[in-house]
Amino acid sequence: MPAVSPVHSRVKVSAPGKLFLLGEHAIVYNGICLITAVDSRLYMTLEAHPADEPTLTITAPAVGLDHWQHSIDEIVHSNQVSGPASFIASCVALFHRQFPFDVSLKIETASDFAATLGLGSSSATVATALFGLSSLFGVGLSHRQLFDMGVEAIQQVQHLGSGADLAAAIFGGTLYYANHTPREIIPLDIPTLPLMVVYSGQKAGTVNYVQQVRQLHDSLPHIVPPIIELMLTIVEEGRPALEKTDWPRLGQLMNIQHGLLHAIGVDTASLADIVFQARASGAYGAKLSGAGGGDCAIILVSPAKHELLTETLTDAGYQVLPLSVNAVGVRLE
Ligand code: MEV
Repeated sequence: MPAVSPVHSRVKVSAPGKLFLLGEHAIVYNGICLITAVDSRLYMTLEAHPADEPTLTITAPAVGLDHWQHSIDEIVHSNQVSGPASFIASCVALFHRQFPFDVSLKIETASDFAATLGLGSSSATVATALFGLSSLFGVGLSHRQLFDMGVEAIQQVQHLGSGADLAAAIFGGTLYYANHTPREIIPLDIPTLPLMVVYSGQKAGTVNYVQQVRQLHDSLPHIVPPIIELMLTIVEEGRPALEKTDWPRLGQLMNIQHGLLHAIGVDTASLADIVFQARASGAYGAKLSGAGGGDCAIILVSPAKHELLTETLTDAGYQVLPLSVNAVGVRLE
């Protein structure tokens, strides 16, 4: 394959974080979900430098990388990078196999949001790395092509994951996502979504929770699979409620989804506390968002009740995050 050359010496790109509206966990079982991109972004700068023995250098303070360096040849041929550099290294290896290049790369990331918030920093990293590389080398890859490559990169590192976070990071907006073969990504036209996002104060490990739910699923085959089925019905009913901006209905479905997530063991005392306080303050509905075990809760609440609820939750020691949803997907800065 002929080598590609950089068309720029430096590019800066960004991708949004994400929040699951409905369908987390169920999406893993060839399911469906509703997911939205949030306006808190991960930024990546990529530079190309001529070199006899090309290297990859990564500086990503949020994950403790400071001039981490490795030979690109080794990354491409061994694919053995582990630890916080693994997502970027996996993207570089995949990209290099399709579009070989012989320059050194210097990659730096910075983020509007902490990796601990559970807003999908790994997927935003993969989205920016692949989009950044395609921009740096002038290779026109469609969002769908970036997505398919990104799913492969994530599978190589984590060996699991529905790809929903990645779809949100690349396509942006609010999506109906189906984890079937081939995966379906349908952008939804949502003019508004009055959502409040609250951090529970605990960082959760997505991989652990996905594995824990898998074990429960396999050990209780008459109980957990029907719960997953119910979650999928909730997504099916949630989609028209979201599209028609029927907030009382969507809130009710969010409450039920939270109950089912509690049933499969991924709720925490803090998440439940946020959800109950939100409901007591007259929110339409509230639930944990994502893998559970911590991270964020989302609350569907009318703008009129927003301020009072923010005060209540702040007084209770929680952090209300000033995020808005439906954000733009991966882009050049
Ligand atoms: C994690 O953000 C959401 C899960 O559904 C896992 C996944 O979709 O890969 C729990």
